Amino acid sequence: MTTSQTPAPANVLSQDELKTLVGQAALQYVVPGEIVGVGTGSTVNKFIDALATIKDQIKGAVSSSVASTERLQALGIPVFDSNAVDRLSVYIDGADEIDGAGNMVKGGGAALTREKIVAAQSAKFVCIADESKLVQTLGKFPLPVEVIPMATQRIIAQFAAKGGVGKVRLKDGKPLVTDNGQYIVDVTGLQITDPLAFEAEVSQWPGVVTVGVFAYQRAQVCLLGTASGVKTLTF
Ligand code: A5P
Repeated sequence: MTTSQTPAPANVLSQDELKTLVGQAALQYVVPGEIVGVGTGSTVNKFIDALATIKDQIKGAVSSSVASTERLQALGIPVFDSNAVDRLSVYIDGADEIDGAGNMVKGGGAALTREKIVAAQSAKFVCIADESKLVQTLGKFPLPVEVIPMATQRIIAQFAAKGGVGKVRLKDGKPLVTDNGQYIVDVTGLQITDPLAFEAEVSQWPGVVTVGVFAYQRAQVCLLGTASGVKTLTF
């Protein structure tokens, strides 16, 4: 991993301001005249706001969630179906955790499946995050897994055999239903020391739609908001 740094303004920045800073910094990776892949979450919302300032210079976006689509369209950025677009040069998204090799845990916003699809369609993944997301080993943040509802209990049992505790994510007292009509299981207590092997194994369990480990679709660049400015990590 290599790092470089852009100094921050002199005053102390809030987490929200750090997100704004990395959201704006991501504009340098947007290719003029092209369609950009757009992730989901509070950090990406800052990126979408920044993208609106250069919307005349791009063709539009492929979005990873209903929420991001609505925000993009409200700001006048055309949203394309992923099937209507060939290869994207860049995908810009946040993360719940990122390690020193660009492997990530994602899905805190329940959009992991579409995020992985758009990331797979993109030549480069640029992760935008504040420095609280940088970890040595993935597993501190509960691991989101999108599952087919009828497989939920067996998948929770399979995680228990690995030392993890899985719980169905709730919203207003009922299982949260994703944009794809499925459930999310959040798993605590895991130490994901080999992200590639972990992702490969769990992805094959019947009923798993998407596991929130992004090792096959890991980041090539991370713009990290820190007290001393935006750090660029390249992997
Ligand atoms: C959405 O499902 C997630 O993968 C987000 O990318 C992740 O949760 C980061 O979100 P924030 O930018 O809101 O922290």
